[in-house]
Amino acid sequence: MPAHHRLVATAAAGTEDLLAGELSALGLPPIHRSRGAVEFQGSLQDALRACLSLRTAMRVLLPIARVPAAGPDSLYASLRALPWQDHLDLRRTFAIEVAGRTEGLDHSLFAAQKAKDAIADALRERLGARPDVDVRDPDVRIVLHLWRGQADVSLDVAGESLHRRGWRARTHRASLRETLAAAVLLGSGFTADRPFIDPMCGAGTIAIEAALLAAGRAPNVFRRFGAERWPAFGEADRRALATLREEARARVRRDGPPIFASDRDPEAVEAARQNARRAGVEIRFSVADARLLAPLDPPGLVASNPPYGGHEGGGGGLKQLKSFYHALGARLRQLSGHTLALLAGSPAFESAFGLRPVSRRALFNGPLPVTLLVYRIP
Ligand SMILES: C[S@@+](CC[C@H](N)C(=O)[O-])C[C@H]1O[C@@H](n2cnc3c(N)ncnc32)[C@H](O)[C@@H]1O
Repeated sequence: MPAHHRLVATAAAGTEDLLAGELSALGLPPIHRSRGAVEFQGSLQDALRACLSLRTAMRVLLPIARVPAAGPDSLYASLRALPWQDHLDLRRTFAIEVAGRTEGLDHSLFAAQKAKDAIADALRERLGARPDVDVRDPDVRIVLHLWRGQADVSLDVAGESLHRRGWRARTHRASLRETLAAAVLLGSGFTADRPFIDPMCGAGTIAIEAALLAAGRAPNVFRRFGAERWPAFGEADRRALATLREEARARVRRDGPPIFASDRDPEAVEAARQNARRAGVEIRFSVADARLLAPLDPPGLVASNPPYGGHEGGGGGLKQLKSFYHALGARLRQLSGHTLALLAGSPAFESAFGLRPVSRRALFNGPLPVTLLVYRIP
C-alpha cells in the first residue's frame, strides 16, 4: 500500500476554488484551502497524477517537515537537523525557493542562503561532502514556506512550474500563463459539447488550453517532473508514472467540438499555429478583426483576453481603447445563445463594453490585476 502524505497544490490567488474542483474531480478531495494553496491527501503516485492532470496548479508539493524558524539561527538549526540524506545525494543538485516571511526572515534570498548553508553543512557532516546548488535546473527543488516563526519544508514534485506545459515554441508580447488561460475556461463553465473561439488569440494560449480541455487531454502529459530526478524515485515509481502517462493518453477524446482562433495580427496567428502544432491540437485559425466576429453554429463559448493598451499594444491611448471595447461590445451582444468569457486587463473595459456580466472574478496576470467577466447573451 503506497504511503499517504499530506500534499499541497499551489495556484494563483483567485483560482483556488477552481483548483479544489479539479482535485475533487480527480478523486483527491481537498482538506484545506488557503490563499494560493489547496491541501489534499494521497500517495506520491497521486501527487504525480495531480501534476499530469491539473490545469490551474502551479506546483504540487510534498511537505517533509514543519520546523521552528524564529529568525535566521533558528531556521539554520531546524534545517540542519532534518534527514537530508533521505532526499539528496552527492550526484544531485538542489535549489531552495522561499515563499512567505516571518520575523527576522523577511528577505527571501537571505532565508534561502541560510537554508542552503544548513543543508550543505548537514550533508557534509553525514556524507563527507556536499551536493552542488543549481538554481536554474536543480534535480531536487526544496520549497520553504515561512509563516509566524515556522517553516513548512516541502519537496516540489512538479519541478519546473506546471504552467510550462512543454509546447510553447513562440510567445506573444502579452501571452497569458497557461494556468491562467485554464482558469478563464474553468471559471466560465467551459463544456466540451459546444464550439469555442478566441477572436483575439495572440499566441493561442486560451485556444490551446480549450482544445486540450475539450479532448480531455492531461495538460502535462509531455512534461517531465521534478520527482523523476529524486534519488529516492525508484524503478517501481518510474513504472507507475509510465502507466499514469499511458492511461492519460488513452483517455483522449477525438470527437470534441471545433475550436477556432483568430487575431488581426498575422504574426500572432502564425505563432499560435506553431504552438498548436507542438501541442498536438487541432485549431482552425484565421486572420480576422474581432469586431466582425460571426456567431458560432451552434452557439458556443467566446473566451478572450482583449488588448489592454500599454506595452502589449492594442494601439492608441485610452480613448481609442474605449472605442474599441465599445465596438466589440456592440458586435458580441449580437451573438445570441453564446457565453462570453473576457479577461479584462483595463479598468475601462467593463463600462465601455456596455453589457452586464453574470459573474466577475478578480485574478492576476503576473503582477497585473485583471478581471474575468462572464456574460450570457440571451
Ligand atoms: C492581450 S493580447 C492576447 C494574448 C493571448 N491571450 C496570449 O496568451 O498570447 C491581445 C490580442 O488582441 C489582438 N487584437 C487587437 N485588436 C484586435 C482586433 N480588432 N481584432 C482581433 N484581434 C485584435 C492583438 O493583436 C493581440 O494579439
